[in-house]
Amino acid sequence: MSPLNRREFLQTSSASLALAVLGLSGKADGAAANKYPSIRIGNIRDLKTGEPVQFNYPDKSSPCNVVMLNGNAVGGIGPFSNVVAFSALCPHMGCPVNYSNGRFVCGCHYSMFDAAKNGQTYQGLASQWLAQVSLRLDKASGNIYAEGIEGLVYGRIGNLNIS
Ligand code: FES
Repeated sequence: MSPLNRREFLQTSSASLALAVLGLSGKADGAAANKYPSIRIGNIRDLKTGEPVQFNYPDKSSPCNVVMLNGNAVGGIGPFSNVVAFSALCPHMGCPVNYSNGRFVCGCHYSMFDAAKNGQTYQGLASQWLAQVSLRLDKASGNIYAEGIEGLVYGRIGNLNIS
């Protein structure tokens, strides 16, 4: 095999960089493994306004809350676009957050996240927003499915296990 000349080297390097940026440089089955699962997390008819329900997503070690708000919300589902879900782990240092009056509050250093605005941090030490779970409603049955996460779950370099 002959050594690459300068032009061939640059062409090969550019192609490799482009694939790496697109996340395609790994195994083909790796891309499929990184797809978020669709998991039923409850039924909209069982939710009561202001009373969060816990579930785990995208795996058993990632606690989350789904809650029905008083008003519509960014990413909200349901007839009033007011059902949202978020990671239950504060992005600052991973303490649990609790729902109260339209916001999630961290008891460790009192960061607060707006549940109607994508989990936006509006007080405290957290520099990232609370990771929001993407939801889908099956209108016929009322079942709610978690199907993705916007943002990074605390303590992870990726939300899905990458092997
Ligand atoms: S762990 Fe939540 S604000 Fe510090």
